[in-house]
Amino acid sequence: MLVLDGKIAAAAVKATLLEQTQALKAAGKRMPHLAAILVGNNGASETYVASKVKNCEETGFGSSLYRMEADVEEAVLLAKIAELNQDPNCDGILVQLPLPKHIKESNIIEAIDPAKDVDGFHPVNVGRLVQGLNTFIPATPYGIILMLEHFNIETKGKNAVVIGRSNIVGRPMSILLSSNIAQGNCTVTICHSHTKNLKEICLGADMIVAALGVPNFLTGDMIKPGAVIVDVGITRVEDATAKKGFRIKGDVHYEEACAKASAITPVPGGVGLMTIAGLLKNTMKAYQGL
Ligand code: GUN
Repeated sequence: MLVLDGKIAAAAVKATLLEQTQALKAAGKRMPHLAAILVGNNGASETYVASKVKNCEETGFGSSLYRMEADVEEAVLLAKIAELNQDPNCDGILVQLPLPKHIKESNIIEAIDPAKDVDGFHPVNVGRLVQGLNTFIPATPYGIILMLEHFNIETKGKNAVVIGRSNIVGRPMSILLSSNIAQGNCTVTICHSHTKNLKEICLGADMIVAALGVPNFLTGDMIKPGAVIVDVGITRVEDATAKKGFRIKGDVHYEEACAKASAITPVPGGVGLMTIAGLLKNTMKAYQGL
């Protein structure tokens, strides 16, 4: 069984990006720059954004982090986005989700210039993804594709099941896996909370992408021998014996899945690291021009 190690695949992506930024530096050029906006103090969001900023540094990218209070008015956030849209030194804009309830997420996403939308969440970019046009692929599905590519996982003609239909992961993942791209050409089934016979559907899958946010949801009895298992879950589960008081749990029962799968992504150390690789690649793409 092959462990699809995110550290290895992400390091390869980052090494290529570092070469590119070093070449830019040698040529006296401006560095790619990511602006991240963090509203409130959700612990998981703080960790993700800190990691995005750190990874920018490691690959020679510039970054700015703008923090706003949880009760910030939507208009203030929109004004910051408008300013960044106009800033020629800012290539990519990322507003960490989720946002506090009083802010309408779609207003924020639609305010970002599609050419700086490195999350690939703007409807223009989602439309381009659906039509197979050049676009920013949302970072997590992009990272998964990069991971499959790195480990030469063949997907053509395979039955893929995606569990979860979020705009951030499940929906774009299903589109990519069904697209005519190197790590696509699957027959895709997208499952969600109203799906009947989920176990039977999963047992017919050559690849399962679990992206529903329920720890240990996918158990061994739902997995066909030899299937490829991609675990997108990163739920914090309280654990008094852990140093931070919690542990990160995936959507897949790892030990049971290992007994069935031909390849599996671990949690932590799998898809999460690839999300950042996808984001950095998108930021470089924004810098170069879509
Ligand atoms: N929240 C969880 N995943 C993501 C992501 O990929 N981008 C943003 N902006 N917020 C998130």
